[in-house]
Amino acid sequence: METQQHHEQSEAGDVAADRVRIFDTTLRDGEQTPGFSMDRRAKLRMAQMLEALGVDVLEAGFPQASPDDFAAVAEIAGMLRDTTACALARCVPGDIDSAGRALEQARRSRIHVFLSTSPLHREHKLGMSKAQVLDAAVAAVERARGLCHEVEFSAEDSMRTEPEFLVEVFSAAIAAGATTVNAPDTVGYMTPAEIAERFAYLRANVKGAERVVFSSHCHNDLGMAVANSLAAVGAGARQVECTINGIGERAGNASLEEIVMALKVRGAYFGTDTRIDTRKLYPASRLLTELTGQSVQRNKAIVGDNAFAHESGIHQHGMLKHRDTYEIMRPEDVGIAETKLVLGKHSGRAALRKRLEALGHAPDDAALDDVFARFKALADKKREIHDDDLDALARGRDPDAAGPWRLTRLDTSAHLGAGASASVKLRHEDGREVAEAALGDGPVDAVLRAIERATGTGLQLSRFQIQAVGEGGDAQGEARLAARHAGRDWNGHGVSTDIVEAAAQAALAIVNRIEQHAPAAQPAASPSPRTAKTKTLGASR
Ligand code: KIV
Ligand code: ZN
Repeated sequence: METQQHHEQSEAGDVAADRVRIFDTTLRDGEQTPGFSMDRRAKLRMAQMLEALGVDVLEAGFPQASPDDFAAVAEIAGMLRDTTACALARCVPGDIDSAGRALEQARRSRIHVFLSTSPLHREHKLGMSKAQVLDAAVAAVERARGLCHEVEFSAEDSMRTEPEFLVEVFSAAIAAGATTVNAPDTVGYMTPAEIAERFAYLRANVKGAERVVFSSHCHNDLGMAVANSLAAVGAGARQVECTINGIGERAGNASLEEIVMALKVRGAYFGTDTRIDTRKLYPASRLLTELTGQSVQRNKAIVGDNAFAHESGIHQHGMLKHRDTYEIMRPEDVGIAETKLVLGKHSGRAALRKRLEALGHAPDDAALDDVFARFKALADKKREIHDDDLDALARGRDPDAAGPWRLTRLDTSAHLGAGASASVKLRHEDGREVAEAALGDGPVDAVLRAIERATGTGLQLSRFQIQAVGEGGDAQGEARLAARHAGRDWNGHGVSTDIVEAAAQAALAIVNRIEQHAPAAQPAASPSPRTAKTKTLGASR
């Protein structure tokens, strides 16, 4: 293990470089919140992604919380190469020793000890005096420094702590060996101006301030976590604690992707940057969504579906002339393939022509007039117009026309702990009737496999969303599916009081569009990897 002295030198060297360290706590502050828990395998996948993203410190968990947490931290610590592995501990010997053991295999390890310092917490949560808090903090840092490469001390609820006492606590923690001192806004109470003032005060008054990294950790209760973190950076903080998609206690932590992109896009203003590979921001966000099943809001900055989408005619017109008119960063900078000019009822002819051309159509002015009129009529009925709708319009077809396949029968059953099975009966408008059955991970998966098998159309699902339409127990379920087939994206949607049937209708809508688009291609449709895995249950044709 490197010596503490060596480490202190390297921290000071980094400070000179003036780079902001990204301390990711997705797997600790993020994972501990309702709806975001992950099993060990998921945590490991996320940790790999975070290291590839280039986070400086990865807080992998709270080893004393449970044997599973301990095992996950130990596994992640052994896996990380360039990223510092960090484990959380209260200022009690058992927690600190447990964190030290979990980090034994780490190339670079950090124990993060924390203790509340505010009067509210001292009196009501801890029942401790100021002197007791000081002693406990010092003892914890001293114990931790013998067990890892670097020690971070956090003063929980620091922003509601008397500033003079905070100076005392941080000075003592640094004298005891802390190399990073973190001043969290635990309850998301502060404003940017106040945070900036507090960090400036701390940096000017804490003894040993020049030897350590000051860190900010902001919660989002008033929606100011990112602004507050950036204000802390402006006042000299050189570590920011944050999470992918901003997940975390209550309203969440500061969002990593927003902080990183603010520092990049406004680099000249902040005069500092991070070492994050920003092209991995979107993939990291998507992976977290996939692992937790919790998607981000459409209009979420940086990674939301609408972050680089433009629908209004005026904006689209500007974008087509010069991207900088309505974009301050490129989607590819954050790992999103391209700007989306979403076609809907607000779109204009210029965007429609451009999209049709990209799809291989070359409408003259008269043809464009015709398609545009039908496009507007369709846009009044549908929220979004997809490429396959446009294709149908350009070919003179009604994109909403049903068929050629119809679902005539659907049976599913789920088997506790053993997946599910489904059988479907479909009728083709040419008179064919096909029945197929398949197994799947769940009823929806089984139905999709059975439909793929029955129609011979392989679908690689890229998106699957189910949401209630209306309220109450009898609300209808709406399924939206997107799939790739023959190098193109296809979309379908279905509505039913039974969500499995809604998903089946959505899948069939996609198959129908594919077949309408290229009837001749159907018999040759290559089975997708999903179909190849399908087990047929008494299939009959
Ligand atoms: O919000 C907080 O204060 C924390 C500490 C453990 C750093 O998460
Ligand atoms: Zn927190």
